[in-house]
Amino acid sequence: MTTVLSVTSECVPLVKTGGLADVAGALPAALAPFGVEMRTLLPGYPDVMTAYPDAPVMRDLGDLFGGTACLRRGALGENVLYILDAPHLFDRAGGIYLGPDGRDWPDNPMRFAALSKAAALIAANGVEDWRPDALHLHDWQAALTPVYMRQLGVGHVPSLMTIHNIAFQGLAPAHLLGAMELPGHDFHSDGFEYYGQISALKAGILYAHKVSTVSPTYARELMTPEFGMGLEGVLQHRSADFLGILNGIDLDVWTPPYDTPEQKRTHRAALRAEFGLPDAEGPLCVAISRLTGQKGLDLLIEALPALLEQGGQLALLGSGDAALEAQFRQAAERHAGVAVRIGYDEPLSRRMMEGGDAILIPSRFEPCGLTQLYGLRYGTVPVVAATGGLADTVIDANPAAVTRGVATGIQFHPVTGQALSGAIQRLGVLWRDRSTWARTSENAMAQPVGWDASAQVYAALFSRMVQA
Ligand code: ADP
Ligand code: GLC
Repeated sequence: MTTVLSVTSECVPLVKTGGLADVAGALPAALAPFGVEMRTLLPGYPDVMTAYPDAPVMRDLGDLFGGTACLRRGALGENVLYILDAPHLFDRAGGIYLGPDGRDWPDNPMRFAALSKAAALIAANGVEDWRPDALHLHDWQAALTPVYMRQLGVGHVPSLMTIHNIAFQGLAPAHLLGAMELPGHDFHSDGFEYYGQISALKAGILYAHKVSTVSPTYARELMTPEFGMGLEGVLQHRSADFLGILNGIDLDVWTPPYDTPEQKRTHRAALRAEFGLPDAEGPLCVAISRLTGQKGLDLLIEALPALLEQGGQLALLGSGDAALEAQFRQAAERHAGVAVRIGYDEPLSRRMMEGGDAILIPSRFEPCGLTQLYGLRYGTVPVVAATGGLADTVIDANPAAVTRGVATGIQFHPVTGQALSGAIQRLGVLWRDRSTWARTSENAMAQPVGWDASAQVYAALFSRMVQA
């Protein structure tokens, strides 16, 4: 049995802004059958504290960056959850990263340094007689943990730094070095300094024992200037200890209410009704996404004519960039075949997976991506940019794959509006070839997208790290 502390800033079912929450929430249960006992450390945001109103205190941490803090015990299904109760850092109305003005909380560097420090304290002295053999650190919010572990004399306890998205690096101004209790002697270009600032993610990449990201293709991409966002050199430096492990999805949570794609019919009709879309000849395409540059949905605005020309329709659910929200609203006003819901709505996202024929994911970069995995599971044919985890999980319906009967979706490259239009035209051709379409959708449903394979890889990795 290997014991692992997972350190994360979000986790379903308690708090979620993106796929990290799904992954952190699913891994403990997925790893249990493979001999890993994973406990989770999560900040005590208001939603977490209200979910566990009577969570007992397991350890006092004393003063933690300007206020008292303690560790409380909650539960994550069958697994243990430790809540970092530090009201001066986490008890506030608003988002978990953003204040009411839509900007990062100004004290984010301190808030997540505190999370990392608490993790290091658990590694050093344990909590309720439990001590982790290894740590699993998610994204920049947990990335300073190895620095604090070294300071506490437990730098030898192995840690795995997992990069879910290199776009967020946890930069902080150098004048916070003292307040964050970081060692000045490591503040240089071979340490965690990044162009004059403190880089939490760089620290994690340099000082964790192993580094991973969430797909093999993104791991390769991250070591190039095009995708590495300035950290490609540091990742090349760690290449011997750097690997990509594909995410899975929780099959108990994401289960279609049908066994074959033909049974999608009633769900498709219900979805059209819900979105106010008329009947149509072409495929009903869905998109469920944060509306940010990463997700490339501006390209979908460009490619809408290609979809509409073939009698296809779009139902989109998303929120984020205000200009893009406005563009989609306008498109919906102009075209009967386009309907848009701005917001975040998980039950609706499920109904879209059930009723949609295809899901469009034109990401400029995508470390793994979960919505194409949901799409596969629901027989909702994914149309994806050939990047990161999208490239690793969807089998393009090229002639060879169609002949062999193994295609599950469509990939396109480069990530431009024109190439997306081309992919949508290919989707139309596939749609009109009814038997090939049915086969593709059935293949999608049959593709294993659960955690089993990757959970085994993580378990073996933790076990090797602990034995090394
Ligand atoms: P990322 O974490 O980069 O946003 P992922 O594909 O890994 O991308 O995960 C996104 C998760 O958030 C998925 O579970 C997806 O269904 C969900 N999601 C994104 N936008 C919305 C929305 N507007 N409503 C409901 N769920 C959403
Ligand atoms: C990030 C990535 C996404 C990935 C998720 C979970 O949010 O953008 O591609 O699926 O993390 O690893």
